[in-house]
Parts: sequence; structure tokens; C-alpha cells
Amino acid sequence: MNLKTIRTLAFAASMALGGQAFAAGATVIPPQNEWSFSGPFGRFDQTQLQRGFKVYKEVCAACHSMSLVSFRNLSQPGGPGFSEGQIKALAETYQVKDGPNDAGDMFERPGRAADRMPAPFPNKQTAAAANGGAYPPDLSVIAKARTYERGFPTFVFDMGTLFQEQGVDYLVALLTGYKDTPPAGVEVPAGKYYNEYYPGHIISMPQPISDGSVEYPKTADGRPQAPETALQYAKDVAAFLMWAAEPHMQARKELGFKTLAFLLLFAGLLYFTKKKIWSRVEGHHGPAF
Ligand code: HEC
Repeated sequence: MNLKTIRTLAFAASMALGGQAFAAGATVIPPQNEWSFSGPFGRFDQTQLQRGFKVYKEVCAACHSMSLVSFRNLSQPGGPGFSEGQIKALAETYQVKDGPNDAGDMFERPGRAADRMPAPFPNKQTAAAANGGAYPPDLSVIAKARTYERGFPTFVFDMGTLFQEQGVDYLVALLTGYKDTPPAGVEVPAGKYYNEYYPGHIISMPQPISDGSVEYPKTADGRPQAPETALQYAKDVAAFLMWAAEPHMQARKELGFKTLAFLLLFAGLLYFTKKKIWSRVEGHHGPAF
């Protein structure tokens, strides 16, 4: 096979695959954002995670649970970094079901740091019934559960795939992708909404955030820490959900880097050892045995 044939085949393959993704047409590729946690040295931005938690707590938590996250996780290293006092105070604002007590009854008590974050609905059925039949999924790992194909040949070079930022980019696009007027010819049933990035476009979640819906902490000069816009809320809550889905990301990346550094050093040592040992073999320079 000569070079020209290979090129032609590669081109044909890319057209076939790319064309297929396009023909399926259900998903629009979300725009990529800049994330503090992308790349091999990426770290979460603590203030962003705190804002993201605020958005989750004040908006999303009305419908979505995050049942894999306990309050104390929010004070662990590499996360939003709330103090233990803040966590205790936060947990106490919730009522948590516990029991059974000595009489065999379930009871409610104020939350503690070790409790999981309580869900807004007692079960999936109630949650779905309250949302027009659609169950609002648990958000604990959603940032990693949602991903998409960029299609050939982009995925080969796609650092986003490698470092797993696709889920967060999708979340931002989803939260800001609502359209009041759907494209001509598209019928949006009552109680459903049109979203450019949701697969299939018709979604049961009403647009949860818009400009000004959450108040951000103020800086010393009295201005909000970050713009109080839908886009900023979306980025902050997406970053928070990314942390929730992978709370040990920072530790993982640091370990990966150390491992690479070690392997490089080790390869160097092996190389010189090999040289030293083989230098004693006849035919190589150095004395024979
Ligand atoms: C009024 C209730 C409600 C609120 C508030 C709400 N959601 Fe939803 N959400 C839903 C429902 C219902 C669905 C399921 C949609 C469907 O199946 O069509 C959903 C679905 C989702 C999905 C899954 C989309 C997919 O690809 O399957 C994500 C992610 C999500 N919501 C994130 C959020 C975030 C982040 C917030 C807060 C900024 C939020 N939601 C606020 C009700 C809500």
C-alpha cells in the first residue's frame, strides 16, 4: 500500500465517521471552557467550588440529590475547603431521618458533619411525580457520567478527553442552552423545554438559573466575587459537580506527576547501569572478563 492509498483511505474513514456523527445530529458539541483543574497540573479553585456549592444548595438541591456526598467532604483537602465549624453549622440546618429509636420509631434530628446530604424527595417516584414524570438524576457523579464523542479525527488530539473535562463542558452548555423559541417545525410539549445541548433537545427540567438568581459573596470593595450571571453560575456549579464526581483528582494528578518523574529517573539509571555492565563485555569498550 503506498502513501497515497493510505491517505485516501484515512480521508474516506474520517468522512464516514464524521458524517455518521453529523447524520445522527442529536447532540450539538458543547463549547470548551477554560478550567483551573484541566491539564496535568490542574487544581480546583476553592472559591469557585464554594460558589458552585452555593448554586447547588440554593437552586439545584430543590430537585436533585447528591447522595454520595457527606457534609464533611466539603471540608476535606482538595475540595471547597469549608472549615469544620462551617460544616457543623451547615449540617445543623438540615433535618435528617434517623432511627429506629428504642420504641422502634424513625425520627428526625439535626444533621451532623458525617451525614450524607439529604435528598429533596423521599424516593425516585415522588421526585418524578413532582417533575412531570421525569426523574431528576442524582448529581454526585454526573460530571463524569455525561460525555460525548467529538468524532474522528478530533478525539485523537483531544486533551479534554484525556483529562475528562467533557462532562463539565456539557453541564455548562446544558444549563445555558435553553431556547425560548425552538427551531421552526419543532413542537415542544406542555411542561417540557427546548435545550440546544440536551440529547434530543426536549427536556423536562425548566431553565434552573438566569442572571442574578444567586447572590455571591462580596469582596472587600463590596462587589460580588464573580459575575452574577447565568454563565458564571453554570461554570461554578459545574466545577463543584466535577469535584464531587472526583474529590481526589488533585491527589491523583500529583501522584501521576511524581510517578512520571520517578519513571524518567529510573529509566536514566537503568541506561547508565546497562552501559556500565555491557562495557565489560568483549566487543564493547572496556576490559573483557
Ligand atoms: C425544578 C426542578 C429542577 C431544578 C431546580 C434543577 N433540575 Fe436538573 N433536572 C430536573 C429534571 C426533572 C431532570 C430530568 C430531565 C429529563 O429527563 O428530561 C433534570 C436533569 C438534569 C441533568 C441531566 C441532564 C442529562 O444529560 O440527562 C443535569 C446534569 C441537571 N439536571 C443539572 C441541574 C443543575 C446543575 C441544577 C442547578 C443549577 C438543576 N439541574 C436544577 C429538574 C431540576
